[in-house]
Amino acid sequence: MDVDALVSEATARIADAADSAALEEIRIEALGRRAPLVQALRELASLPPDERRARGDELNRARKALEGLVDDRARELRGRELEERLRTDRVDVTLPGVVHPRGYSHLIEQTRRDILDVFVGFGYRVVDGPEVDLTHYNFDALNHAPTHPSRQVTDTFYVSDDVVLRTHTSPVQIRTMEAQPPPVYMATAGRCYRRDTPDATHTPMFHQVEGLVIDEGIALSDLLGTLDVFMKALFGQERRTEFRTHYFPFTEPSVEPYVSCHVCDGAGCSVCRHSGWIELGGSGMVDPKLFEFVGYDAERYSGFAFGLGLERIAMLRHELPDLRELWRNDLRVARQF
Ligand code: PHE
Repeated sequence: MDVDALVSEATARIADAADSAALEEIRIEALGRRAPLVQALRELASLPPDERRARGDELNRARKALEGLVDDRARELRGRELEERLRTDRVDVTLPGVVHPRGYSHLIEQTRRDILDVFVGFGYRVVDGPEVDLTHYNFDALNHAPTHPSRQVTDTFYVSDDVVLRTHTSPVQIRTMEAQPPPVYMATAGRCYRRDTPDATHTPMFHQVEGLVIDEGIALSDLLGTLDVFMKALFGQERRTEFRTHYFPFTEPSVEPYVSCHVCDGAGCSVCRHSGWIELGGSGMVDPKLFEFVGYDAERYSGFAFGLGLERIAMLRHELPDLRELWRNDLRVARQF
C-alpha cells in the first residue's frame, strides 16, 4: 500500500468536501473501520518485528495527519454552514403556536370565591366549619324543636344518633359565637347534604354561603342593606331586591331575599318561573334564644344571619337550565368562566 498516495488523495478529497455530510463520508472511507489505512494498522502485528516499528510510525503519522485535516475542515464547514443558516433562516411569526390546554376551577368554586370576595370587601372574616357535625350544632343550638321535621331520617343523612352530614351552613354560626366574643362579622361557604332525589333544582349535596353579624345596635335595616348591596354586587347594580317574610327556627323576624330576574328584568320568563323574581335563600335577625346557648348578652347585642344557595347563584350567573349540569362535567359548561 502506497501510504503517500493514499494521504495525498484523501487530502485532496477533504479539501474538496462540499459540506459536513460529505466530509463525514470521506472521513469514514479514509479513517473508518474498513479504511485501508486502519486495516493496515490492525495488521501490523503480523509483520516481522524489524519492519513493524517503521511501518507503524508511517501509518500512525498518516492517520494523525488525516484526522487533523478532517477536524480543521469540519470546523471550517460548520462555521460556514452556521453563517449560511443565520443569513437565510427566518422566524415566521405567523405560524400557529402550540396551544397549551388550560385548567379551570369548577363553576361552584368560582362562584364561592366571588361571593366570599364581596364579604371580605365588607370586612367579614371567612371561616370554615365541619361538614359532619353534631345534631347539637345542626339542630338543637339553632332552636329546632325535638320534633322539627327536618330532623327526620328521610330528610337528613345520619352518621349516628347525634351526628349528621350538616343540612345547612348555619351550625357555623353557633361554632363561631362559641369561639369568640362579639362583635362578629363572619362569612362561610361549603357543602351541605339533604336526602333529596336529584332533579333540575335539587341534589343531595349542595353548597351554601352563610353570614353572621353580631354587634351593638344591629337592626333589620342592616340585614336588608347588606343583602341589597351583596345581590347588586353579584348580579348587577341595575337589579332590584325584595324581602318576603318567612319562618326559620333560629331567626325572628325571618325574611327571604329576592333579586329581580336578570334575564327578563321582572317581566317573567322561564328562568324566574314567570314571577319576575328569584329567591336566593333565607335570612333574619338572630333569635336571642341562640345567645343563651353561646353565652352572649342579649340585652347588649343583636345581629342578623343569612344563608344563600350557591348552586342557585351559579346557575343564574351561567344561565344553566338544570342544576345537575354542574356535576356532569360537560366541558362546554366547565369552561365557562
Ligand atoms: N339555614 C337556613 C336554610 O338552610 C337558611 C338561613 C340561614 C336562614 C341563616 C336564616 C338565617 O334554609
